[in-house]
Amino acid sequence: MATKAAPDTRSVGVSPTVGSGDLRILQITDTHLFPRPASDDGYGLLAGVDTRASLGAVLDMALADTALPPDLLLVTGDIAQEPHSAAYASLHAAIAERYQGDVLCLPGNHDEPERAPATFAQRNWSKAGWQVLALDSHVHGEEGGALADAEMERLSVELEASQARHVLAAVHHPPLELASPLDHGRIKNGARLLELLAADGRVRGILFGHVHQAVYAEIGHLALYGSPSTSVQFKPLVGQFALDNQAPGCRWLNIKDNGEIASRVQRLADGSFPAQLS
Ligand SMILES: [Fe+2]
Repeated sequence: MATKAAPDTRSVGVSPTVGSGDLRILQITDTHLFPRPASDDGYGLLAGVDTRASLGAVLDMALADTALPPDLLLVTGDIAQEPHSAAYASLHAAIAERYQGDVLCLPGNHDEPERAPATFAQRNWSKAGWQVLALDSHVHGEEGGALADAEMERLSVELEASQARHVLAAVHHPPLELASPLDHGRIKNGARLLELLAADGRVRGILFGHVHQAVYAEIGHLALYGSPSTSVQFKPLVGQFALDNQAPGCRWLNIKDNGEIASRVQRLADGSFPAQLS
């Protein structure tokens, strides 16, 4: 395959500025929602951040321009901090208050998909020659990810059946090491996944969460996009895990008819929803 064993670290960073595109995808990730609203006793906070409130603020920011709503709102996992059905209901309520378009959700390591089967029932989305395939890298009881044999097989079958001219894959865990302290959380069989996606020839990029930071890398002709969390951020490119003081955010992709992608990260104002760093 025409991929490198590791990404060119020079290309890791925030991806290029967005241009005008044919379709718009808004990616939110790692919302880490609780079943009940935050309370004075500290319940509902993740490192001091009210995750329901930060999600609402990110959605307000991203969806402020009602003339340009996304064609797809993509939620790349760790939806729940406590995987109770009420946490998933709070995601849908927050979205429904602000957006009536298509939504595609996939599970992360904090999720328990069987608690919210309707949330994860849809597995792909298509429009105007593009297809987004949602992959399940969740492994029950484990922080790291893997694609089960059946999921890998489903991906092969979906790609074979797809009439799309361009494809994006979406998954919670990053498929390879990205010079991040969360490297141990990558997809165990990510090399096989990348090989399968690269071999198709129509797959333009992979969107993921889990790393709680903005990441952009290129491997062969595949673009890899990691999004900031709507809740707490992790410090990028450091040897040891640490929280970061950047504001919550999301990622936009403009995808064009000719297969080109332009992407940008959008964050709340500096100092919004500060995490307790220690
Ligand atoms: Fe997360």
